[in-house]
Amino acid sequence: MEACLDELYLVSQAVLAVSRQMSTRDVLHVIVRSARTLAAARYAALGVPDDHGSFAEFITSGISPAVHRAIGPLPRQHGMLGVLLREGKPERLADIRKDPRFEGWPAAHPDLGSFLGVPVKNGDDVLGIIFVASKHGGGEFTGRDEELLTLFAAHAAIALTNARLYERSREVSVLEERARLARDLHDAVSQKLFSIRANARAAAVLAVRDPARAVAAIKVIEDLGAEAQAELRAAIDGLAPPGLDGLAGSLTRYAVLAGRAHGIPVRVAVADIPPPGERAEAALYRVAQEALHNALRHSGAREVSVSLSRTGRRVVLEVADDGTGFDTRGTRPRGLGLASMRERAAAVGGVLTVRSAPGSGTTVRLAVPVG
Ligand SMILES: Nc1ncnc2c1ncn2[C@@H]1O[C@H](COP(=O)(O)OP(=O)(O)O)[C@@H](O)[C@H]1O
Ligand SMILES: [Mg+2]
Repeated sequence: MEACLDELYLVSQAVLAVSRQMSTRDVLHVIVRSARTLAAARYAALGVPDDHGSFAEFITSGISPAVHRAIGPLPRQHGMLGVLLREGKPERLADIRKDPRFEGWPAAHPDLGSFLGVPVKNGDDVLGIIFVASKHGGGEFTGRDEELLTLFAAHAAIALTNARLYERSREVSVLEERARLARDLHDAVSQKLFSIRANARAAAVLAVRDPARAVAAIKVIEDLGAEAQAELRAAIDGLAPPGLDGLAGSLTRYAVLAGRAHGIPVRVAVADIPPPGERAEAALYRVAQEALHNALRHSGAREVSVSLSRTGRRVVLEVADDGTGFDTRGTRPRGLGLASMRERAAAVGGVLTVRSAPGSGTTVRLAVPVG
């Protein structure tokens, strides 16, 4: 009995270890070994099926690695293992070879006699199976063995469920991370690269005719290149946009530079507002960037204006142009930019409105609650 308590202690430790980064596989190994010892079995194994009629994981105890290799590929889900997986209830047999459902095993497989298998379940969901075989001394497995194995199966179920949840949460965060990166790169870097190309083209044309202006354009390219590099680093590090020490300052700087890059005057009216908080600031800055860039690139405006002000408990950003405008009700999905502005607004509880109609310019307005 004392030995039993030792083993149970070991298993509990192993299961606890799942939450402490011990790999699921290691935990299952401990469970299989412990089950074999406690049931006084010569062999034990735990199988987790895959979606292709085989096993994604098949952990054994009682056979040497050499024998494991000699048996060959992981067992298919046929015979008794298939029965356990399909029916989801325990099987206790005096001799597995005499059961009508027995279908034989590969040449190198040890010859099993007595058999006890239990499904590993999470609710009604069969996650796998655990079995012990060939009880020492030639006897049969008992009701008590079955209870013990059921307990181990419950432990294994916890380990497997945790592993799945962990896998899933990692997948979700990888996807979120990817979406964030795509958005940041689109917002910050691809716009700057576009401006760099536009200026390079201008510089090439001006080089002969007007060297002084060509030099100015090249200077803009250099500045934009440096900013793109910083933005890229920031996007990758998931940091706030660079130079966001003060929203008013960064916004003004960016707007003037972007206007110069496109050769369109940008009027900036930025009130000296109290800092609206890091997340709101980042959202306001990114939305301003995108709206401004759209105005400069798509509208053919003669002038663009950017304003930032505070009304009551909201900070309001407006980017307006006197360009072509566009049909905002268009059913065809627009670019990533408009969607990204909406997302950023929503993420900080803000309201984004785009007022535009063909022929009458566009105004993008973002109101973010503060304090
Ligand atoms: N200020 C604007 N003036 C004119 N058209 C605009 C303006 N902003 C957006 N658009 C139109 O909406 C489309 C989608 O914009 P957006 O979602 O930012 O994607 P992208 O800028 O990558 O094309 C643009 O391609 C353009 O046709
Ligand atoms: Mg855009």
